[in-house]
Amino acid sequence: MCGIVGYIGPQTASPLIVSGLKRLEYRGYDSAGVCIVDGDSLTIHKQAGKVADLERVVDLSAIRGTLGVGHTRWATHGLPNDVNAHPHTDNDDAIAMVHNGIIENYLTIKKKLENAGYTFRSETDSEVLAVFIGMLYKTIGDLERAVQTALQEVEGTFGIVVVSTHDPNLMIAARRGSPLILGVGQDEFVVASDAAAIIAHTRQVVYLQENEMATITRQGFTTKTIANEATHSVVEEIAFELEEIEKGGFEHFMLKEIYEQPVTFHDGFRGRLRVDEGNVRLGGLSKVQDRLRSAQRIIITACGTSWHAALVGEYLIENLARIPVEVEYASEFRYRNPIIYPNDIVIAISQSGETADTLAAIREAKMKGATVLGMVNVVGSSIARETDAGVYLHAGPEIGVASTKAFTSQLCILTQFALFLGRMRDLPAEAGRTLAQGIAEIPDKIRQILDQSDAIKEIAMTFAQAPNVLYLGRGYQFPVALEGALKLKEISYIHAEGYPAAEMKHGPIALIDENMPVVFIATKDEIYDKVISNIEEVRARRGRVIAIASEGDTQIDRVADHVIRIPETQAMLAPILASIPLQLLAYYIAVERGCNVDMPRNLAKSVTVE
Ligand code: AGP
Ligand code: GLU
Repeated sequence: MCGIVGYIGPQTASPLIVSGLKRLEYRGYDSAGVCIVDGDSLTIHKQAGKVADLERVVDLSAIRGTLGVGHTRWATHGLPNDVNAHPHTDNDDAIAMVHNGIIENYLTIKKKLENAGYTFRSETDSEVLAVFIGMLYKTIGDLERAVQTALQEVEGTFGIVVVSTHDPNLMIAARRGSPLILGVGQDEFVVASDAAAIIAHTRQVVYLQENEMATITRQGFTTKTIANEATHSVVEEIAFELEEIEKGGFEHFMLKEIYEQPVTFHDGFRGRLRVDEGNVRLGGLSKVQDRLRSAQRIIITACGTSWHAALVGEYLIENLARIPVEVEYASEFRYRNPIIYPNDIVIAISQSGETADTLAAIREAKMKGATVLGMVNVVGSSIARETDAGVYLHAGPEIGVASTKAFTSQLCILTQFALFLGRMRDLPAEAGRTLAQGIAEIPDKIRQILDQSDAIKEIAMTFAQAPNVLYLGRGYQFPVALEGALKLKEISYIHAEGYPAAEMKHGPIALIDENMPVVFIATKDEIYDKVISNIEEVRARRGRVIAIASEGDTQIDRVADHVIRIPETQAMLAPILASIPLQLLAYYIAVERGCNVDMPRNLAKSVTVE
């Protein structure tokens, strides 16, 4: 969930760790802390707030020492205060540890340790593990084995890095459930929870595997499993550029990512879409092609924005391939003992590829014998590695906590997947060509919408102080209404709800008065006239209407107070275009309200706890 950076090498560790932490801060920012080992002393600075807040009170660059760890926290156990900030130490203050994840049996271990006379300063589950390692070290006298023994008893998820004064030339890293990457430089090593913190030092990395630990010295590293079996680690090269994860002149990452969409959408179909054949080549799925052909049902599981993309996917696949689709919240799926048939295909959609709920859902599905596919953005992430096959989004790193470009890339992949399945079954080539042509035209149409951002900003200004906003859409646009509402509430803290437009009259209509802005997605399709009737119902109760409408639609001006026009496209592709103005609307409203758009309160970019 949060960020981890560890360094061992010839350079002064603290500034390197601090700059790495800043790159990871989007993952969690409840507190920040560093621990540097210098000879036989540990220097620890940690406090609630961001890395920059910590820098304001301590000159971190002045700390000497060439071995250390740092952490940005997204609290799960205990308030986001100074004491609960990581690193945590053992009772002798000789071993320091940073942790991502949750130690589920921490209370049992804590009780045992308390009975043996050990004490605790924080409310965290993490400190229990640090103290436990310290206790084991006393009898074992070897840090690697103490860490390993502790982890054999621990239940839950962790990415940890441990350093100590017992050996100022040693750093130990281990993972289960949380990601951890080891950067292999020239006589130096950087361990981090995300490649973004490593790339400034080296492109050579080892992705630690599930239940794997690395023992790193100044000379080199070895890996093994927590159960003490030998492992063979492969050094790989990071594929993305550092500039890709920097702001590139935009005020916020979110805005930058919104503007990247013509390119990221194109990257999602480049080399895959075959307009002439009216088909798609998805290399990542070739080994499961037969199983896809005989699939009787598809279950898509995801969370948040990715779940909204899944809903659009349901409509697309059922329409084009005529295979029944169910969409499940990953967090619900795993706990309700889902029925899975051998011919079922389960698809996990995830930007980060690390969402704990989604990961748990695919493990459940795999255990029950389903073929599990991933549609994931982060290359080498846990979901990407644990699925049988999959398709990458190729949207590049998404830093803004509110997902934007990953959503349209997910729709790009889902549309192609549905087309691919459809053509395998009975979708005629001509229908395939029309859709493929439509997909190829999307990037330019996204550009045309981005060109209207000034007008969208103006509309945003008129609603920036609204306490509530309703988003309504039907058919393919219903999930877009849900997504528009989620974007607004995430970053502006305005209460917003998405609803199927026709469901409004079964309840939410009671909320409508002259103070309620209602965003209608009213693009031209076969249910357009019905949506117009729904708009009339809102107007009759003096609600204020903002409509997302198709270019050339003049009828809409009669019923809407504000109109944002998007280029015409096929109904199946309209959600992609309609989501762009809703992202901009949410963005400008949040900026106007003075909100921290890239790091909204209480949220984290990748939710690696359940
Ligand atoms: C999106 O704006 C949210 N921050 C959140 O709902 C997100 O989509 C969800 O946590 C799933 O993340 P994933 O795609 O990385 O699995
Ligand atoms: N469970 C730990 C805590 O609450 C770590 C949370 C995290 O992953 O940031 O401190």
